[in-house]
Amino acid sequence: MIKKKQIPISKSIGKKYQLVKGMKDILPEEQPFWSWVKNTIEKVAEEYGYQKIDTPILENTNLFIRSVGEDTDIVSKEMYSFIDKGGENLTLRPEGTAGVARAYNEHGMVNLPQPVKLFYYGQMFRYDKPQAGRFRQFYQFGFESLGEAESILDAQQILIGYKIFQRCGINTSIQINSIGCEECRPIYQNLLTDYFKNIKNQLCEDCKKRLTKNPLKILDCKEKKCQELMTNLPQTVDNLCDNCHSHFVKVLEYLDELEVPYILNSRIVRGLNYYTRTTFEFWESEEEEGRQNALGGGGRYDKLIELLGGRPTPAVGFAVGIERLITKMHDSDFTPPKSPIPDVFLAQLGNEARKKSLKLFEELKKAGFKVAESFAKNGIKPQLDFANRLGVKYSLILGQKEILDGTILIRDMDGGIQEIINYEKIIPELEKRLGKKQ
Ligand code: HAM
Repeated sequence: MIKKKQIPISKSIGKKYQLVKGMKDILPEEQPFWSWVKNTIEKVAEEYGYQKIDTPILENTNLFIRSVGEDTDIVSKEMYSFIDKGGENLTLRPEGTAGVARAYNEHGMVNLPQPVKLFYYGQMFRYDKPQAGRFRQFYQFGFESLGEAESILDAQQILIGYKIFQRCGINTSIQINSIGCEECRPIYQNLLTDYFKNIKNQLCEDCKKRLTKNPLKILDCKEKKCQELMTNLPQTVDNLCDNCHSHFVKVLEYLDELEVPYILNSRIVRGLNYYTRTTFEFWESEEEEGRQNALGGGGRYDKLIELLGGRPTPAVGFAVGIERLITKMHDSDFTPPKSPIPDVFLAQLGNEARKKSLKLFEELKKAGFKVAESFAKNGIKPQLDFANRLGVKYSLILGQKEILDGTILIRDMDGGIQEIINYEKIIPELEKRLGKKQ
């Protein structure tokens, strides 16, 4: 392990700290996009009967080794693992499915009516090479349907993903495949070994190792020189056993019925080891470059729950990277609605007025108005400038004189006309002017 030299804390006084590599701040101007995505996920989840689950960010390292697989890039290169003060080997979750599967077993969800339909939203961590669309901390949302093997659920999962992208203004290309089961996959693996055997020397170093360990994983390689060798690959769908074949055909028939477009792609084998049968990815375009930064992906994982100590439980799910989704929303000029403009701005002048405004602010909120203020400012001009920037239609102005008179000024921000009104009449006056009964 490389250990970086730490600057002694005494020498770092006044040092300007920066983001940790691969991390990202989400600034206020970006928040409307994040809120839109979050609200859309929640709405779609409700429409399809999915309930929210939050699992911890920290899990036992072995959970991911078992689920995702020791030979995968995620486990072998990208996990943030450490030994805690009690000697436990823990990992910042690199993905959400393993935690959901653990929770399904741990809370006896097998006893609930099946399928158990869950969704989540949260940070994941992968020690990846930071670049466009690739972070070390990133957000994913995911949908998991646990407990049923029927093809219709695979199709519905794909539909859910497709709908969420659509509601975010994005058209995706759905790439779909089936990698079969324990019975038919070894046959296909043998065909792949034969295919790559004679061109082994042209493969990248990782793929040379994959050829002996798990040739299927070569199909997921992002190296251009390996990709160029895959033009005449044996097709997975031609080599499925009867059960897997009919399962896959049904998935496609349901998608046809739903009018969800898809592209059959033998190379969608996924980078995680728990998949069985259907695998799919959401690409930003049909071209091969879409693979580099897939917007989302998923598939069936019929053996995972059992692998983690539960009863045999088929399941299917997918996850989407939210940073990638939001970048795509920007590219497609999708503008989420801004948060509503406040009804009224409350300006104050002088100590007494400031004190009284604090209370008035609460009363106006209680009456149902969306109120803005900048209590920390002293002069009227900077306060009204701020109100103008917010686009507020009316400002209330409270000064020493108004307090003595039991009045308040109401200013129409469009024309600048100000009127004196009785302090007690503020609420009905605002209701009248804003044309709404709060
Ligand atoms: P995954 O393909 O590893 O699948 O990740 C899903 C999505 O997370 C990717 O398509 C991508 O959008 C985003 N993502 C992955 N790594 C990064 C990164 N370093 N920076 C930014 N975004 C990233 C899974 O994680 C599976 N758990 C999906 C699943 C759910 N399968 C079944 N259920």
